Amino acid sequence: MAGQVEFGLGKGKVFPHQKAGSLLNPVRRLIQSPQAVVRWIGLRGDETVLELGCGPGYFSIALRDATPHGRLVLFDLQPEMLGMARKRVGRHGNVTTVAGNAMSLPFPAETFGVVFIAAVLGEVPDRQACLQEVRRVLRPGGRLVVNEVRGDPDYIKAGDLDRACGEAGMKLRRRRRGRLRWTCLAEYVAV
Ligand SMILES: C[S@@+](CC[C@H](N)C(=O)[O-])C[C@H]1O[C@@H](n2cnc3c(N)ncnc32)[C@H](O)[C@@H]1O
Repeated sequence: MAGQVEFGLGKGKVFPHQKAGSLLNPVRRLIQSPQAVVRWIGLRGDETVLELGCGPGYFSIALRDATPHGRLVLFDLQPEMLGMARKRVGRHGNVTTVAGNAMSLPFPAETFGVVFIAAVLGEVPDRQACLQEVRRVLRPGGRLVVNEVRGDPDYIKAGDLDRACGEAGMKLRRRRRGRLRWTCLAEYVAV
């Protein structure tokens, strides 16, 4: 498979679990509240949702709360991150954790109604392989929601993201830029 992952804080490197505390820093809430992001996604409550690259679970509690009758799968390369996310969401029957690589997702085709990815794609060496995998595991009409944060060394520009998603078979439906344009949310639909 193209691209070996490398750990570190620079561009294109996988954010190390030893620094996970900074992702849960309360200051982050001033820039972007997880609840507001999940409200924007607009979950029905009964979907099967994949949070790809969940890290220590900044968004996971809000996703869990918005999926009371569905299923939430927390997925990450680093088992240590999954351990932290699991601790945050608690022992909920409808939440599972799965370790693996986003370039080769260990799920059957058409498993998920929604895939959510925040500040992850820029760390994946073969972004296109990852997006093709996302498209494969999405149900027909399923949605991919991507959250990018400016200032992140791995920030992906909107145009580049639209192009990459388009090539993988997902079409932009809507986009929202956050306060002071620090964040950018985009929703794509599997076509
Ligand atoms: C910057 S953190 C963001 C975590 C979380 N989404 C958030 O916004 O707080 C990136 C996460 O993506 C995960 N990640 C990076 N590359 C990955 C890959 N190829 N497969 C699965 N997870 C990956 C890392 O382990 C890390 O937990």
